[in-house]
Amino acid sequence: MSSFWHWWVIILVLANILGMVWLIKFAEKKKPGEAAEHETTGHSWDEGTLSEYNRPMPRWWLWLFYLTIGFGLIYLILYPGLGNYSGLLGWSSAAQYDREVERIEERLEPIFAEYSELSIPELAQNDEAMATGRRLFGYECAVCHGVDGGGARGFPNISNAKWQWGGEPEDIVTTLLEGRSANMPGHEGREALEGDGLDNLVAYVQHLGGREGIDEDTITAGRSAYEDAGCIACHGAEGKGNQSAGWPNLTLGQYTYGGDEASIRETILQGRSGEMPAFKERLGEDRIHVLAAYVYSLNN
Ligand code: HEC
Ligand code: HEC
Repeated sequence: MSSFWHWWVIILVLANILGMVWLIKFAEKKKPGEAAEHETTGHSWDEGTLSEYNRPMPRWWLWLFYLTIGFGLIYLILYPGLGNYSGLLGWSSAAQYDREVERIEERLEPIFAEYSELSIPELAQNDEAMATGRRLFGYECAVCHGVDGGGARGFPNISNAKWQWGGEPEDIVTTLLEGRSANMPGHEGREALEGDGLDNLVAYVQHLGGREGIDEDTITAGRSAYEDAGCIACHGAEGKGNQSAGWPNLTLGQYTYGGDEASIRETILQGRSGEMPAFKERLGEDRIHVLAAYVYSLNN
């Protein structure tokens, strides 16, 4: 808060409180005992049949007001409220939050430490650990991979055992700790894609992915385009890719970016570059161990 707003808040708050005191004094009018027995305020209604006695407010009632004002002032001395002044007790909502998080961490630490002793396949059988894993997944991963791990366009399905980077426990752990980044360059302008080349190649990719009913000539022509355009360098002669490099296996029929003709054409021409963020810093190894087991359990 700049010093202008600091003083603005202080003056406004104190002026308000002083205003209250003045208002009570003003409304009090008569001290108890001062008013004559039948004196009225002079206001009258209903053609003079109804008038108002001028009686002081009861003492106890006034004192309640003064008490709340006193409470307010003491509160403002002890707790933050007056501009930048942080209060005698040094309380802050951020510090309270940090303390609570710390308390929860202390309780969870031994539980996660215990889980880290178990192997990932063992942990995947542990219902309690998997309930924790599901919660963590919901907070950290579901935004991209969906609540059930089923993925979305641009974000892979991680529940159908069709892996880009590998599904062994250590592969999943590495994916979560370090993140993954894939890069397929665009192939626009390649000679092999001219004429029917691109259409044939798209059909060939679909053939690799298990689509039936594509005629042999198209497959043969698509196969040549696949070789000539250099797809083999990454996806391999049989289209099986390479998990250690994150080159997708095109024979699984899993399409993060869509398996229809238009999507595959776009993938080939423009390329794709997916980024899985690293979670090492954010979650730490013990939590990642539980999450990896959860992902493992979705696939086994
Ligand atoms: C330099 C290596 C490289 C070359 C060459 C390459 N790709 Fe890729 N390809 C990749 C990578 C890496 C991905 C994954 C991109 C990602 O995850 O964001 C990919 C993804 C794809 C996909 C999308 C799969 C999905 O899940 O939706 C298709 C289809 C594909 N490639 C086909 C081809 C074809 C056809 C060619 C030849 C024209 C080719 N690729 C050339 C590396 C390559
Ligand atoms: C910001 C979006 C985003 C978040 C959040 C995210 N991921 Fe990913 N994840 C991706 C993308 C994109 C890829 C694919 C990277 C590529 O193209 O190779 C991926 C890939 C993966 C893979 C590799 C899949 C394979 O086939 O090898 C796993 C496993 C995975 N994520 C698990 C998780 C888990 C568990 C979390 C939560 C801790 C998580 N992801 C959070 C975007 C995200």
